[in-house]
Amino acid sequence: VKGERLDKWIAHHTGRTRKEASKLLRSGRVTVDGAPITDGARKIDPASATVAVDGSPIEGAVRYVVMLHKPRGVLTATRDARDRTVLDLIPADLCPRPLVPVGRLDKDTTGLLLLTDDGALVHALTHPRRHVAKLYRVAFEGPLAPDAPARFEAGVVLEDGTRCRPAHLELTAPGQALVTLREGRHRQVRRMIAALGAEVVGLHRLTMGPIPLDPELPEGAARRLRDDELAALDALHSSRDPG
Ligand code: URA
Repeated sequence: VKGERLDKWIAHHTGRTRKEASKLLRSGRVTVDGAPITDGARKIDPASATVAVDGSPIEGAVRYVVMLHKPRGVLTATRDARDRTVLDLIPADLCPRPLVPVGRLDKDTTGLLLLTDDGALVHALTHPRRHVAKLYRVAFEGPLAPDAPARFEAGVVLEDGTRCRPAHLELTAPGQALVTLREGRHRQVRRMIAALGAEVVGLHRLTMGPIPLDPELPEGAARRLRDDELAALDALHSSRDPG
């Protein structure tokens, strides 16, 4: 395998000796692209790997986080033979390395999608045990159960019997609601609303964890996160897994 030895790379980038780097690795605190690695002889590609200690990427390891205002009709996938994907919307100059979407939005969902080359960040934002909050604006048609907000708080039971975690539903106007979820099941908002008797006709993500969709970012456009946004993500990132 080509690349650089992990213990050597860590020593070089953190000012540790090779021996100290090996000790750090053996303690199990190091991840490469989100996966724990204890073997210092492991080769990494420094141009693409994200090496983190206790979940915080080692400084100097540049990582890229891009915010996309996803339009309708675009797939959250890295490639597709027929349809346009979110990666087709990212200008090449925003990131020199391959990006992956942080979670998924349905083809017809619009709004905030983050993409990154930082595997540890993907893990921190999408791992089910992290319970990162996501806020959606929902348009629906049909007779939503009058006790819908209470049933969201209690945990909606989907048609297939799955019980969702407690969530929040706020009716803002006839046929309009704000929904906050702390998990990410397939087509979850659509299925929760369906379980309560109505049909989602418009779904738009407004926030992911501490990051709101930039209201100045036009649909279909993307930009890199600002330093204050990256810092907000790092705070989440390095916080302990609540288990
Ligand atoms: N819930 C859905 O149903 N779809 C999405 O795209 C996101 C959340």
